[in-house]
Amino acid sequence: MKKNKISKNWINRQKRDIYVRQSKIEGFKSRAVYKLKEIEKKFKIFKGVNSVVDLGAAPGSWSQYAATKIESENILSIDLLKFERIKNIHQIIGDFTDEINKNEIRKYFGKKISLVISDMAVNTIGNKDVDSIVTGDLCMEAMNFAIEELEKNGIFLSKIFMGSSFNEIVAEAKKSFKEVRVFKPLASRKNSKETFIICKFLR
Ligand SMILES: C[S@@+](CC[C@H](N)C(=O)[O-])C[C@H]1O[C@@H](n2cnc3c(N)ncnc32)[C@H](O)[C@@H]1O
Repeated sequence: MKKNKISKNWINRQKRDIYVRQSKIEGFKSRAVYKLKEIEKKFKIFKGVNSVVDLGAAPGSWSQYAATKIESENILSIDLLKFERIKNIHQIIGDFTDEINKNEIRKYFGKKISLVISDMAVNTIGNKDVDSIVTGDLCMEAMNFAIEELEKNGIFLSKIFMGSSFNEIVAEAKKSFKEVRVFKPLASRKNSKETFIICKFLR
């Protein structure tokens, strides 16, 4: 399919999408918030949480939602892309996989973190297999960071793609967390390989 045909289809789909419309009404920066809301409803990931790191945060709806749950000063958001500031949230524009940025996150909190959420995904190159491999690598990198930096009862949530690295990621998660669940919210498009992994209680 030609590129401008793809973008026309994308625009039409966005117009029809109830989550896109709802996010505009509620003032959220993206429809992605409804995936997080469903995850929260089912898994109560924000319960008792006092610090949150949001990886791949742009345009910012997950961070906006986190700010309805805990003090904004205790939220740190990072993305490769520049995104609008959200009041009192500490923001890093940069690559999460860069050690300098990981150190900035560690330094900002100065102690273990309650919740690491990652919606990181590559800016798609159109090859679903390659996208899913790279996004799998990002998920692993986020999980390794979470394992190091989470409180004992901390929680790790990440986007993960059904694909070649899926089983490996779930197996790795089970080595480090007592409770590992995989969940695809209704707000996640049916034709997308995206799903989410929720990991609780470090071993
Ligand atoms: C699906 S979007 C996130 C949407 C966001 N959760 C929201 O609610 O607005 C995925 C984001 O991951 C970011 N990303 C991809 N690789 C990254 C990396 N290495 N470091 C930081 N952000 C990254 C992309 O720039 C993109 O903005």
